[in-house]
This record gives sequence, C-alpha cells and structure tokens, in this order.
Amino acid sequence: MERFARIAGWGRYLPAQVVANRDLEGRLDTSDEWIFSRTGIRERRIAAPEETASSMGLAAARGALAMAGVHPQELDLIIVATCSAERVFPACASLIQHGLGARTVGAFDVNAACSGFVYALSAGHQFIASGLHRTVLVVGSEVFSRLLDWDDRATCVLFGDGAGAVVLQASEEPGGIRSCVLGSDGSGADALYVPGICASPLEAQRNGHHFLAMNGPQVFKFAVRTVAEATRQAAWQAGILPEEIDLFIPHQANARIISAAAEALGLSQEKVFTNVERYGNTSAASIPIALSEAAEAGRLRDGDRVALVGVGGGLSWAAMVLEWGPGAPSYNPE
Ligand code: ACO
Repeated sequence: MERFARIAGWGRYLPAQVVANRDLEGRLDTSDEWIFSRTGIRERRIAAPEETASSMGLAAARGALAMAGVHPQELDLIIVATCSAERVFPACASLIQHGLGARTVGAFDVNAACSGFVYALSAGHQFIASGLHRTVLVVGSEVFSRLLDWDDRATCVLFGDGAGAVVLQASEEPGGIRSCVLGSDGSGADALYVPGICASPLEAQRNGHHFLAMNGPQVFKFAVRTVAEATRQAAWQAGILPEEIDLFIPHQANARIISAAAEALGLSQEKVFTNVERYGNTSAASIPIALSEAAEAGRLRDGDRVALVGVGGGLSWAAMVLEWGPGAPSYNPE
C-alpha cells in the first residue's frame, strides 16, 4: 500500500530581541536604505545568550506536536536541520529528543546549510514512504548570529536566528509530499562557508577565522538560477507545471533572489510567500518559519500545491512540491 507523508502540525520560535537595520547604522558603515534595497531585510531576531539551536528547536517542536495532537512518545524519528548547533556532537536532534521526553528513537542532524530543512523533510518523507515509520518530527533551527563577524558589513546584515518545526505523519489518503529534488556541487564550497573548529583550532581562536565567509555576487547568481531550476524539476516530478504551483515558499535569503526566481518560473507575486523583511536569512529555519506563517495567514488551503525550495552552502539545493492537507491545521492553538 502506498504511504503518503503529510504535514500534521507546525510550530516556530523567534527570539524576542529585534535588531533593526537602523540599530546597525550606529556601529557599521551601512544604512537601512543600502540593506533594504539590496536584500529586502529591515530587521532580524538575535538569540539571547542562553538561547541555542536546541532550545529554540525544542520550542518550535513543542508547538508543532501540540498542533498535531501528537505526544512526544509517539514520535518514531527526529531529524534536525542545523549548522549552528551548540555542540559539534552529540546531535542537536538528541538534545531536542531529551528535552521533549521522547522515546529513545533515532535522532540525527542534517547539515546542508540553507537547504537543510528541505533535505531533512525529504529524509523524513522517505522513512514514511518506505513504511518504516509513521510519525517523524522535522526541525530547522539556527543561531547564525554566533557565526558572524559583526564588524563585517558584507555578511552580518544578512542573517538572523530562529527555529521552525513540522510533524510529518503517514497517511493512506493521497496528498502530502509529492516530489523531492536534492542537489549539491562541492566545487562551490569556497563561495559560502564557515571554517570548522577542527580545521585549525588555534588559528581560529587567534584570528577569528571561524566566521562565515561569502562571495556575495557568486552566491546571488547561483541562487537565482538554482531556485528556479530546482523548483521546475520538483514541479515536473510532481506532474504539474511551475505555473500550477499555488504557493511558492522559497528560502528567505534575499527578496531580489526570490522575485527573480519567481519571475523565471512565471509565478505572480500573490503566489510567493516572503517574510525576509522581518527575520533576514535564518538558514535552515527560514522555510519552516515561513511555512508556519503562511498557514497562519490563511495562505494554504486543502489541495493547494506548495513548492518549498532551499539553496545555500555546499553549494547545495533542495526542492519539493507538496499537496497541503487533507485536513491540515491552519492555526496554532498554542
Ligand atoms: N552596507 C553598505 N555597503 C555595503 C554593505 C553594507 N552592509 N555590504 C557591502 N557593501 C558595499 C561593498 O563593500 C561594495 O563596495 P565597493 O563597491 O566600494 O567595493 C558595494 O557595497 C557593492 O558590493 P556588492 O557585494 O557588489 O553588492 P551587491 O549588490 O552584490 O549586494 C549582497 C551584496 C546583498 C550580499 C548580494 O551579493 C547578495 O545578496 N548575495 C547573496 C548572498 C546571500 O544571500 N547569502 C546568504 C547565504 S546563501 C543563501 O542563503 C542563498
């Protein structure tokens, strides 16, 4: 019997501290006008010192479980997309598992930078489609503020912190995730990266070489091309034309990347969801945060074909088309 994986609940967590572009003007040679016109970002959230990828992911996961009406002990698997976890190991997923009081089921992290959440969702989908599991928690959580050089205006203005989560459940009724496209081109590894602490720990401590490094124009061109191409492939796999997508929820990195890709796909602005203005780029958390806000705003109805697409460090990409519902919740009772 064919098994379908549908989203049964969602949640998100955003740190309380808001840092607006204007707050950065005082300490960097930048301006609200420059940042907004190049990126569409007005403000971002920054985690408090005690907040971590696991604490924020846990909060988002609790919201998703409450909405789905799923007890943590019912989970069969926990997958967390992150590249800014507080520990190199154990996995952020293990910390969230313990925080939830879940059973000792499998828990692992996915590191695919800004594509991570769609990678993780694809993995969760496969475990359900294969018949191995019925209920999978998928989280995206990032604290990029701790990977940034706050004196580097070219990078620090772009990112923010946050978390989002969904509960995937098996269903015998057709619906849910219809296609998954994953890709990676490691020849672009130097275009966007954070050196690992194992590369040269002493040098990293002395010179701050653990900060995010990026070739902005190269990443920009890659992102515009790849968001459109990966979405086309995901639509084709799902048996629809790109223009039949009802809601397009791309990774929220830059409003110009999003509108150029939407235009290439022939999608009108009404079919595109963006919140980059309020949160900046939250990497693997951006798509589940956007998905949850889109649902809350009434932008998702049963039967809608929704395209999710992430692109980022790797260089990597991941896209999928899912059919919303049946019976997916549209508000968070929390
Ligand atoms: N404020 C003011 N000036 C700035 C700032 C800033 N915050 N940052 C850079 N500049 C300056 C540069 O120093 C440069 O000055 P110069 O001409 O005197 O040398 C000038 O602005 C133009 O710099 P560019 O890098 O050419 O600016 P561009 O128009 O390409 O925009 C940006 C830069 C916004 C980073 C763009 O390249 C971009 O969005 N790239 C994609 C990067 C991205 O989204 N990364 C996120 C991770 S990947 C992902 O999620 C897809």
